[in-house]
Amino acid sequence: MNIISRTGCRIFQTLFKLAIPALPYRSPEILDHVSQIPEHLLDRDIHRILIVTDGFLHISGALETMKKALSSAGIHYTVYDETVPNPTVWNVESARETYIKNNCQALIGFGGGSAIDCAKAVGARIARPGLTVPKMRGILKIRKRLPHLIAVPTTAGTGSETTLATVITDDKNYHKFPINDFPLIPRAAVLDPENTRSLPPHLTATTGMDALTHAIEAYIGRSTTRSTRKDALTAMKLIADNIEQAYACGDDMEVRKNMLTAAFRAGRAFSVSYVGYCHAVAHSLGGKYHIPHGLANAVLLPYVLERYGASIYNKANDIAVAMGIVDTTVPADRATHALIARIRQLNAHMGIPTKLPGIRPEDIPQLAAFAAKEANPLYPVPKLMDRKELEMLYYDVMEEAHETR
Ligand SMILES: NC(=O)c1ccc[n+]([C@@H]2O[C@H](COP(=O)([O-])OP(=O)(O)OC[C@H]3O[C@@H](n4cnc5c(N)ncnc54)[C@H](O)[C@@H]3O)[C@@H](O)[C@H]2O)c1
Ligand SMILES: [Fe+2]
Repeated sequence: MNIISRTGCRIFQTLFKLAIPALPYRSPEILDHVSQIPEHLLDRDIHRILIVTDGFLHISGALETMKKALSSAGIHYTVYDETVPNPTVWNVESARETYIKNNCQALIGFGGGSAIDCAKAVGARIARPGLTVPKMRGILKIRKRLPHLIAVPTTAGTGSETTLATVITDDKNYHKFPINDFPLIPRAAVLDPENTRSLPPHLTATTGMDALTHAIEAYIGRSTTRSTRKDALTAMKLIADNIEQAYACGDDMEVRKNMLTAAFRAGRAFSVSYVGYCHAVAHSLGGKYHIPHGLANAVLLPYVLERYGASIYNKANDIAVAMGIVDTTVPADRATHALIARIRQLNAHMGIPTKLPGIRPEDIPQLAAFAAKEANPLYPVPKLMDRKELEMLYYDVMEEAHETR
């Protein structure tokens, strides 16, 4: 990146960092079980709600306990279950119509990041009927209180239950983009590991690696605070200690609970300290080819860390120590290499590939342009890259058959 763009990015990021203490960050109220939802709603005089979920979770019966509890309390609910992974503008608009048609007063996002993000965007459209979803792209566009929103995560995961983000794909141009604003932080989150019990091993692995990517990208960025560093390191340690066991033995609720806590804390960390190029590239791949978000991040993470090079040595050293990979006597460059090797090993142990299928070389300039637009100047990454430099990351992860350079 040239010096003028670089300086512009760093000034923007510094101003945002200085503003952190003045910004209205908040945390959702934590509930332990879906059976607590009715009382939480009735306390707020809410009697009609929309549950946003996906088709698989609805059919699988995952909603039954919550539905029974709502019915017993006399709360009327409607279910929108068409959310797809990498949720689309169409999802948001059709769920919004269902909300309006049924005179709903509040929203529950029940599922992985896709269902929770869809619920958040529906709330944003209700709050700002004149603003289309694509017009909300970027930061601080909503600026109005959403209808009451409860998140019930069933993956561990995106941390969407505590973040100020929602990520939506424009079905017209396959552009997947984040919307970031404080009203998007859910009012309550149900952190019950039972809701993640049915998550199959592959999804447990990839969604867990997404949480690890949140924690690492937040920690190595330049806009950390003492509290986000603490959240990020705690999340990394919990993931290092639990992810392989969660993958191998999904019925271990102690381990599932730790993964849920890790995802939540990583989400809290990156809400303040942002993510980085791993996410910007993963979003472009999710929008264009529907590559699952966690898988894209898991595969990209070691390559992105390699490209950051010496700019992350000191922070990567802290991470490698926190994850129990090296002790404090190991020099920072070696600790960084050990961290990257450990991430590759975790991926390999959990059946996550080293490359991503389907990337077409002719798409790369546009994908890299989307990633650059998302990340620069907002993400305070350790080493800035422009569109051309970001193109290299797509070649890094592209399967051999498509490689041309
Ligand atoms: N808002 C944020 O802060 C934030 C952060 C990171 C990612 N995201 C977004 O979240 C989305 C990804 O979410 P995700 O990784 O949680 O996956 P997801 O919500 O897309 O779900 C993936 C699959 O897992 C299934 N599934 C979910 N929970 C299950 C369970 N308990 N048992 C069995 N199957 C289950 C779903 O039915 C779906 O088929 C992406 O769109 C990503 O961009 C948002
Ligand atoms: Fe993510």
